[in-house]
Amino acid sequence: MDETLLKKSVIDVINANDRGTHTVPAEKLYSHQWLWDSCFVAIGLRHMNIKRAQHEVLRLLHGQWANGMVPHMIFAKGDQHRRDRELWRSYVSPFAPDHLYTSGITQPPMLAEAIVRIGEKMNLADRRNWYQTVYPGLLHYHQWMYSDRDPHNESLVLSLHPYETGFDNTPPWIVSMREHSMPFWITALEKLKLESVVTLLRRDTRYIPPGQRISTIEALAFFSALRRLRRKAYNTERILSRSLFAIEDLAVNCIAIRANQHLQDIAKTIRRKLPDELTQDIARSHDALDELWDASSGQYYSRNFVTHKLILEPTVATLLPLYSGAITKERAKQLVDLLHSKQHFAAKYPAPSVPLNSTYFDPLRYWQGPSWININWLVADGLTRYGYSKEALMLRQKSLELVAAHGPYEYFSPLDGTPAGARGFSWTAALILDWLS
Ligand code: GLC
Repeated sequence: MDETLLKKSVIDVINANDRGTHTVPAEKLYSHQWLWDSCFVAIGLRHMNIKRAQHEVLRLLHGQWANGMVPHMIFAKGDQHRRDRELWRSYVSPFAPDHLYTSGITQPPMLAEAIVRIGEKMNLADRRNWYQTVYPGLLHYHQWMYSDRDPHNESLVLSLHPYETGFDNTPPWIVSMREHSMPFWITALEKLKLESVVTLLRRDTRYIPPGQRISTIEALAFFSALRRLRRKAYNTERILSRSLFAIEDLAVNCIAIRANQHLQDIAKTIRRKLPDELTQDIARSHDALDELWDASSGQYYSRNFVTHKLILEPTVATLLPLYSGAITKERAKQLVDLLHSKQHFAAKYPAPSVPLNSTYFDPLRYWQGPSWININWLVADGLTRYGYSKEALMLRQKSLELVAAHGPYEYFSPLDGTPAGARGFSWTAALILDWLS
């Protein structure tokens, strides 16, 4: 497919998923607005219609909580969505907005990146206006991250549910959940092999083959972890009491570090000074990232917030310190070597969401093997800034090839490119459009 046709086809998908005020990730399977999805979508939309891209971001801020958190989902209106809204019951928190329904947790802080990318398409005067409009909300969000989600002042942000990372069933969270957040009744169901009864109630597997998603046992454990957050009214202090299920997630922290740099640039452009406390956290977060490095395996990992132990389950997140921009050139080189290594990420269609030699590797199962276009985009962005333009171009080229051959699916097999998950997936379409523009 030539690039003009490819461009047209991804634009068609973005338009089809546009609900006027926001873009849904995909028809049927995902009918609400998701935080990091919309940020990636806005990065593509800016090439089609700047105003529409701005609205995508403003709608996210419209759902912001009074404590500064930007929620990971804003629910669609209408009777058919009542069940989703009731599942989260964000109204149990005094901080949730009254004017719309949201989930009670956040997602990777891609907001600043989206804001800056939109700003890049404007002249200086318009850019300043844009930044002035979004600055208070963005600042409040970053302050919330380093106050509410960094209670021990470590300059690493903690996450409370796998959904907060966007990497739902990524191995380190699955391992931790089995260890620290598995109610006896779920273990009993598993032992008695009764989960098939519950499988019938699942909605995702109505649209997607079960082998591409999380297992029913994992889905139940996710649900149970969510119910606990809800019971504690989404209050971080209460949630952390008597729980070991809190993780300083590698991907979230790499994205947060890059987002902080963007926030600083935004503040500079509109001549504002960031509060001192946040400036200190930002400065310290670079060293803090180093604590997630394991010298013996030469990789980065997520860390349990309470025990401070690294969760030594490798994933593609190990490449995201490139995107953070906070590592040395030597470290960057070590990560590039992993990208070239046949045991790790050098698949035919990189970058697999877990390394090829991981015991979890399964080419079509969601975040346990498939290649995702948003991860390729983030890693490529980091590679470019570290001077690895050849590798960045390779990731771009392979991603374009996949989408040209199959359409903008949610994820792809790294082994042979088989498309999987939702078809007509918004962020895949939007990031391909960004690369083509
Ligand atoms: C899945 C993905 C998550 C994404 C959401 C909506 O849950 O794991 O990252 O935000 O779908 O597309």
